[in-house]
Amino acid sequence: MMKNKFLTFLNGVDLSFDRVREYERTKHIHRLHPYLGKFIPQLVEIFLKHYFKKGDWVLDPFLGSGTTLIEANTLGMNSAGIEISFFNCLISETKTKKYNLPEVENEIKDILFKTKNFSRWYQNPKQRFTLSKNGYKELTINSDYFNTWFSKRAMQEILFYRNQIKNYKNQDILKIILSRSTRSARQITHYDLARPKKPIKNSYWCIKHRRMCQPIDEALKFINHYSWDTISRLKEFDKLRTNAKIRVIQGDAREVNLNNLPDYKGGKFNGVFTSPPYIGLIDYHDQHRYAYELFGFQNNDKKEIGPAFNGRSREAKEKYKEDITKVFQNINQWLKPKAKIFVVVNDRDGLYLNIAQDCGYKVEAVYHRPVLMRTERDNTKFSESIYCFIKNK
Ligand SMILES: C[S@@+](CC[C@H](N)C(=O)[O-])C[C@H]1O[C@@H](n2cnc3c(N)ncnc32)[C@H](O)[C@@H]1O
Repeated sequence: MMKNKFLTFLNGVDLSFDRVREYERTKHIHRLHPYLGKFIPQLVEIFLKHYFKKGDWVLDPFLGSGTTLIEANTLGMNSAGIEISFFNCLISETKTKKYNLPEVENEIKDILFKTKNFSRWYQNPKQRFTLSKNGYKELTINSDYFNTWFSKRAMQEILFYRNQIKNYKNQDILKIILSRSTRSARQITHYDLARPKKPIKNSYWCIKHRRMCQPIDEALKFINHYSWDTISRLKEFDKLRTNAKIRVIQGDAREVNLNNLPDYKGGKFNGVFTSPPYIGLIDYHDQHRYAYELFGFQNNDKKEIGPAFNGRSREAKEKYKEDITKVFQNINQWLKPKAKIFVVVNDRDGLYLNIAQDCGYKVEAVYHRPVLMRTERDNTKFSESIYCFIKNK
């Protein structure tokens, strides 16, 4: 039986988290790389603290950028996440990995130093057209995307950095720094980082800064900034993390098999904390197109559930419902009897109570929270439900 229809507080905490400031929402490792559609960590934290205990196993079948795993770990809970996109898996893996910090710091500084030298050489036309002592040369990439969205200088700096990555041990973290810098170096307006429509090649009136702004001409300043930012975020999280286990599984949550998960012994998950993709809202692969172009990851966008490119037609909604049901039916085999399943979703089409029924879940409670989209000038208000289901057996 549903206990209360409109719970908006948990343990006296207002679930809107309206007073939580931007720097707290993006604290430590959570802001290692931008990702549209991320949880607010405080929401995950309060639910995990209230409903689970240290040593429990928590599963997130729609891992995204890894928020559930990070919060579970800091609370001493073991966790695993499933994610279809290779790049999102990379974000989650780099955020949650235990590092040899002095070694990573040295590598981040070394590649930065080399990129600065290359950039200095590139910006001096006299040197550029003579044979370089350091073996530098202009670099090319066979990508319309890169040739469209970046200045020549930015592209050279990005390609130089990318080509150096193979010389280091901590390649994943360097890829994340470069990807974040590449995203910022796109020639787009300052006010539309998430969904730019066309490249900006001339000065423009900037709504964000209320003045004329220039198109972005370089990548180096971003590489520099994010290098130092990454070092400090890794150090900060290293002080907070526990020895609880974290597993990132690349796969399709409708059919992935968790039997061979390291450290996992059958039926161990005490529950789920997740937020599924919404119908027709975000293309999760396309939002990181630059990273796919740069590193050549396999693109799994056809396996995304509810992508924006499928729209919100009746057929799209039916397919969505069927797919989400498949995911929960698939993961049920690895959940303990009476496992607690939390689903954070804007259920405007009213699908989730039926989905719960089809998956053998009892509705324990439904929480609601207003959400203010604070990112990149998007001040749209909408609300989310947090369904608390209990697995019947
Ligand atoms: C709303 S996001 C999750 C965000 C996450 N809570 C966070 O804080 O980063 C949903 C995620 O589900 C992933 N996804 C979509 N279809 C999937 C599938 N078939 N199997 C596994 N993951 C999928 C998307 O790539 C996306 O990263």
